[in-house]
Amino acid sequence: MVTLAAVTSATAPLDVVLPAPEHVAPDPAEERLAALYSPAWGTAGRHVRVNMVSTVDGGAWGPDHLSGSINDEADWRVFRVLRALADVVLIGAGTARLEGYTALERPGGITAGPDDRAARLELVLVTRSGRVPTALADADRPPLVVTGAAGAQVAGDALPADRVIAAPAPGDPESVDLAAGLDALTDRGLRRVLCEGGPHLLEAMLRADLVDELCVTTSPCLVGAGPGRIVAASVPGLPATPARPARLAHLLHAPATGTLLARWDLHDPVR
Ligand SMILES: NC(=O)c1ccc[n+]([C@@H]2O[C@H](COP(=O)([O-])OP(=O)(O)OC[C@H]3O[C@@H](n4cnc5c(N)ncnc54)[C@H](OP(=O)(O)O)[C@@H]3O)[C@@H](O)[C@H]2O)c1
Repeated sequence: MVTLAAVTSATAPLDVVLPAPEHVAPDPAEERLAALYSPAWGTAGRHVRVNMVSTVDGGAWGPDHLSGSINDEADWRVFRVLRALADVVLIGAGTARLEGYTALERPGGITAGPDDRAARLELVLVTRSGRVPTALADADRPPLVVTGAAGAQVAGDALPADRVIAAPAPGDPESVDLAAGLDALTDRGLRRVLCEGGPHLLEAMLRADLVDELCVTTSPCLVGAGPGRIVAASVPGLPATPARPARLAHLLHAPATGTLLARWDLHDPVR
């Protein structure tokens, strides 16, 4: 197990286990991985992919409370490809604050991918409070923020108006209507959404049935009962996240470490 901060190369060899055995050698352009992960269009003219990492015993973070400490080079290799294929990275503000997100660049060198991607990889924060980390607010290109009514005022004090998307939930304007937030991104031409968590955002996305695809890396380690799961408990008073089937699209295996990387379809994709 290595921390993300220690990961410097994306050269971990990978084997495709399913649907058909195949070796994916290290490749700076990542043509095969990009094809394996090419988005299948989901609902509403967009594709919403969530990428999370879990330990064998279901932990969503390591002893330092960060997911970086349960990542490894194989995960990093796919993580970069998923970012290269996306128009936006969508995250909960909690993850941005805890994991110290900074302004994003699309990973360099990965030449594969659709021609009509957004010119730049956008970072999109979901927040009820509207609090944006200073490092992000002060960046040359600050993030987009999807928030509720009060959050929009708070975020508007820190960001240019065109970076704040107010998506108040009907009946509870301080909460965020995630579907409306995603629609606003689609209207801006940002259709390939890569959500990187965290667990509270994933719970809300699943409850609103907004996730087309879930990529889950199983990291070959256990962390015990302390850390939470990749899906947080539902907020009291709200309906629980519904149970649903998932279809395995492919499974990769990193022979050096035993890391498993699965791509699960939650909606029958329209191909
Ligand atoms: N295993 C993994 O793949 C993975 C991925 C990401 C994070 N993590 C770990 O998860 C932990 C953080 O967990 P978390 O559940 O607190 O992360 P989170 O969901 O990113 O953060 C929660 C915060 O994000 C905002 N938020 C999330 N969902 C929202 C919604 N539906 N509407 C409005 N605002 C929303 C709120 O921010 P405001 O407080 O600003 O309102 C909320 O307090 C960290 O330890 C991190 O390392 C693990």
